[in-house]
Amino acid sequence: MKKTAVALMAVMLLLGCSSANKSKENKVKQARFDSAARQLVAKMTPEEKVGQMTQITLEQFGKSGPDGYFVLDEQKLRDGIVNHHLGSILNCGGQARTVKNWQEIIARMQDVATKETRLGVPIIYGIDTIHGANYVLGATLFPHNIGMAATGNVALMEKSGEIAALETRAAGIPWNFGPVLDLARQPMWPRVFETFGEDPYLASTMGAAYIQGQQGKDLSSPVKVATCMKHYLGYCFPWSGQDRTPAYIPDRQLREWFLKPYQAAVQAGTVTCMVNSSEINGIPVHASKFYLTDLLRGELGFQGLVVSDWADIENLYTREMVAKDRREAVKMAVMAGVDMSMVPYDYSFYDTLLELVQSGEVPMKRIDEAVSNILQVKYMLGLFKDPYPRKDLAGTVGAESSRQVNLQAAQEAMTLLKNEGNVLPLAKGRKVLVTGPAANKLSLLNSGWSTTWQGDQEQLYPQEKNTILEAIQEKLGKDNVTYVDAVAFDKEIDIAKAVAAAADVEAIIACVGEPCYCETPGNINDLTMTEPQLKLVKELAATGKPVVLVLVEGRPRVIRTIADSAKAILMAYLPGLEGGQAVADVLFGDANPSGKLPLTYPKYSAGFTSYDHKTSEEKGGNKYDPQWPFGYGLSYTTFEYRGLRADASEMTPKDKLTVTVEVTNTGARAGKETVQLYLSDVVASITPPVKVLKRFQKVELKPNEMKVVRFELTWDDLAFIGLDNKPVVEPGEFKAQVGKMSVSFTAREGRS
Ligand code: BGC
Repeated sequence: MKKTAVALMAVMLLLGCSSANKSKENKVKQARFDSAARQLVAKMTPEEKVGQMTQITLEQFGKSGPDGYFVLDEQKLRDGIVNHHLGSILNCGGQARTVKNWQEIIARMQDVATKETRLGVPIIYGIDTIHGANYVLGATLFPHNIGMAATGNVALMEKSGEIAALETRAAGIPWNFGPVLDLARQPMWPRVFETFGEDPYLASTMGAAYIQGQQGKDLSSPVKVATCMKHYLGYCFPWSGQDRTPAYIPDRQLREWFLKPYQAAVQAGTVTCMVNSSEINGIPVHASKFYLTDLLRGELGFQGLVVSDWADIENLYTREMVAKDRREAVKMAVMAGVDMSMVPYDYSFYDTLLELVQSGEVPMKRIDEAVSNILQVKYMLGLFKDPYPRKDLAGTVGAESSRQVNLQAAQEAMTLLKNEGNVLPLAKGRKVLVTGPAANKLSLLNSGWSTTWQGDQEQLYPQEKNTILEAIQEKLGKDNVTYVDAVAFDKEIDIAKAVAAAADVEAIIACVGEPCYCETPGNINDLTMTEPQLKLVKELAATGKPVVLVLVEGRPRVIRTIADSAKAILMAYLPGLEGGQAVADVLFGDANPSGKLPLTYPKYSAGFTSYDHKTSEEKGGNKYDPQWPFGYGLSYTTFEYRGLRADASEMTPKDKLTVTVEVTNTGARAGKETVQLYLSDVVASITPPVKVLKRFQKVELKPNEMKVVRFELTWDDLAFIGLDNKPVVEPGEFKAQVGKMSVSFTAREGRS
């Protein structure tokens, strides 16, 4: 029977109340600064306003000297800040710098901005702190977001955000271009590792926790930074799989999947937003008033600053071909809702926008609005009171306590995908062979956004950190570890040597994966793991010695042809600076793995299906047949789920439904388990997904210990995007599912 639709009053209802409260706190502050910002705007000349809207890259103001020390060119700096009234500067000038160097650079910029300009407006410096303060030497580099999502540990996520904020602000930088809230639904996309996986709820929850950790309650605190949700919207779903290429997304899917993490981020109080470099259904997002103003501000209620992505206003006429020239492109983007242009190399945006303002083609009202959005963030950050780096914070970068949090994060990210005959954990004191291109490089554990953009400069990494090989050598003693450099990613080196070495060992640890990359340089044409790596594993497995496969990769490379021959498979993602240690800890049982896949691991390199697919995708000869499903991950202990129950069999819009389940550690060692609650809408007017993740909670259990895990569902959790593209709940039967158990309940409209 078809159900009746009950429309939800507001999109906001989809979100939890704790984040709603937080947003109220933030909005109050924002409103206070709004009037200060507007008063300042009223004093500004058109040149000063357009300058505020301009963001230029650091390379334009000097160059790297010896040892990567950045030396400012005073004349160029003044030309930018004094003559062009620059509002913002970004990036790292090529590589990570010492805290001291950063502090000097930022202090000098603020000197010029506050002492040598008419109104003394401070600069807002922005940077990509993607997995820790990756452009600050000595900083704590966490697992990339895909690994953080696998931890299922929301408190740890928040903590990592806090540390990354501290280490970024210690360098004098108050603005982070993150978190990435795109979803990993196109596994070829080279930015999968920057995401929190394929699921909107998981990404919303982790994203909001990160924002909270970074911004706290008071952005003017010297240990907090402004966050930037990006890349709004739909960037992550390129049809071709290649970076910065078109997405085709029906409105319903846009709202059901891609919009939700941004809704959650707005609710969590993020104060800035970066725009998708590419297009949705032929509409470049930088040129879209619908996406940037109507949807973002009108519907989501975002009140902050919108910054373009790198050169993307220019791209409207050079790449997207929706504008005939720069003039048209600048007008289009500014009128659509872009407040600040990441130009980033020259003053062309400044000059063009000034002309457009002077000729009246871009109304002053729009400029005032944009500048006031920018100034508000500067006020919130306390930059008008004190724009200078805090020298005393320099010593906080890379603290031992932060390292420990990082190690925990890397350990909890580790996702055990296979463990035939409990081959893991390996016994210490026996001989092993370690091989594979990812075995002995810190760069590969960190990849893109690590000390440089592409992350491939091995010499810039702190050499005291362990690679996987070094961490294993520490545990077993060097004499017990044979290392053979058998293959590179794209060529064989000496597979025969590795095969020969296998004769003397008890187990083989093959560390395979991906080279360093990020953004467009990481494009691939085939998701399959490269041939030399597959060949290495096959030949090693043929020796009969157990092969333990460690996957060091930013996206799920297809390994179907070796998955059976490896006895154990550990997904390490891009685990960061403690990643080598964490891998070894898990392989030898010093840590118990507890990660769960935040994405579907495909078995084939085509026809990708996510876990929340439709029934038709698994019926009539079709099947959801991934290598491993979303949410999958083993432990060295076993967990048993029992007694799933809902506290009522019916639910109305006013009710909350409590679902409980007993989880027992039935194995011999302590372990952590992320308990996942899925919901299925049995019949709906829009074909319902087989299940959707609604809640998760990580618990720690000693052997034989049992905990009752409690989840509370609200009416809004039952909603989907209906026929009119608005959230609706259709009364009828629902199934809540945890593990292999499910419990049914009925949603009823309007019972008092
Ligand atoms: C990326 C952004 C990044 C910006 C600044 C762009 O190429 O798409 O994610 O924030 O560069 O580095």
